[in-house]
Amino acid sequence: MRNRFLFIISTVLLTIGCKDFKASKEGTDKASSEKEALEANVVHPGKRLLVQECYMCHNPKASEAHMIAPPMAMVKMHYIDSGTTKEQFTEALVHWLNDPEQEYKIPNAVERFGSMPYIPYPEKIIEQIAHYMYDHELDRPDWFVDYLESDEPGAENSLEKYDYTATGNAEKRYANKGLGHALATKAQLGSDLMKAIKEKGTQGAVEFCNVGAIPLTDSMSVMQNAIIKRVSDKPRNPQNEANTKELEHINFFKEQIASGNSVEPIVELHNNEVNFYYPITTNTMCLQCHGNPNEQIESETMTVLKSLYPKDKAIGYGTNEVRGIWSINFGTNDQ
Ligand code: HEC
Ligand code: HEC
Repeated sequence: MRNRFLFIISTVLLTIGCKDFKASKEGTDKASSEKEALEANVVHPGKRLLVQECYMCHNPKASEAHMIAPPMAMVKMHYIDSGTTKEQFTEALVHWLNDPEQEYKIPNAVERFGSMPYIPYPEKIIEQIAHYMYDHELDRPDWFVDYLESDEPGAENSLEKYDYTATGNAEKRYANKGLGHALATKAQLGSDLMKAIKEKGTQGAVEFCNVGAIPLTDSMSVMQNAIIKRVSDKPRNPQNEANTKELEHINFFKEQIASGNSVEPIVELHNNEVNFYYPITTNTMCLQCHGNPNEQIESETMTVLKSLYPKDKAIGYGTNEVRGIWSINFGTNDQ
């Protein structure tokens, strides 16, 4: 399945996307795209919304193995050709997101990733995202770029290339490693959650989180040889309550995010151990279970939440707020 999907990506892109792609690669080096990311809050509200709302699944920074939806650059190629106007594209995106079960433009994406769940995005948000997507080059995953650049058969080996252990000083290396653990766990949780919502609806998915979330982070810990936790100042599950140190970091991240600053992970070294912290922020999708009762949280969902979590504190959130943090511990000597 993977090979077939890649084959289709590559043929589609080599035939329609290649010219456009070459031009963009020259124009944007790594430094400028990082700068762009730092400026995302001020530069274009559509960029901030794209990262906040869509990159949870369409994340161009995820390795091929951790992708849970096609890269947005690919989505764009299938929706915009030389004759498409901004208005037509915006309308197509609004139309599709209102009913994601209708016909698909990307061949094989549904078989590879499953279908996208319906998420009640306000139209204004989609419009801003569409305008940004139409006017700007979108980030492409490294594996995707490598794949496009190589004409050799077998090029899919390069897809696993994304490297969190890149060069730099020790702290930067540990920060990358921690982010790698967080991203891998997030991708797994995200795709399981997406499946549960699609198959069982929101209330059914609550039960999935209830039974599945902690065992999932535990098994990721075993696989990745690290202790991986999600903790919060307002936990739903009391087992996820942040300790004093973690609360300090949560408050720091809250200040950073509220003031629109870009956020860096916190890395602390003690003897041969690394403690890594990084914020977990909310988007529209989270609000069906973490928003306001009877507004975003439907009453059936509220009933299930109340019965499973009588001491639930994890409601009343808006978008782009700190829901909690990744708190990850690993050894400095581990590979
Ligand atoms: C919970 C995960 C998730 C989130 C969040 C998400 N998507 Fe998707 N999206 C998917 C998956 C999975 C697919 C591939 C399957 C499909 O085409 O339905 C997809 C496919 C698409 C497609 C292609 C449909 C086609 O014609 O084949 C578009 C357009 C799209 N997403 C737009 C968006 C936008 C815009 C956002 C943010 C506002 C977003 N998505 C957020 C999971 C997600
Ligand atoms: C289908 C409902 C549902 C959705 C959607 C959902 N959550 Fe949760 N969330 C839960 C449940 C249930 C728990 C408790 C899991 C447990 O018992 O371990 C939880 C727990 C958490 C925790 C661990 C801390 C705590 O409160 O126990 C974090 C962090 C979290 N969610 C963040 C998010 C974010 C961010 C999103 C959106 C990207 C999201 N959730 C979407 C239901 C949901």
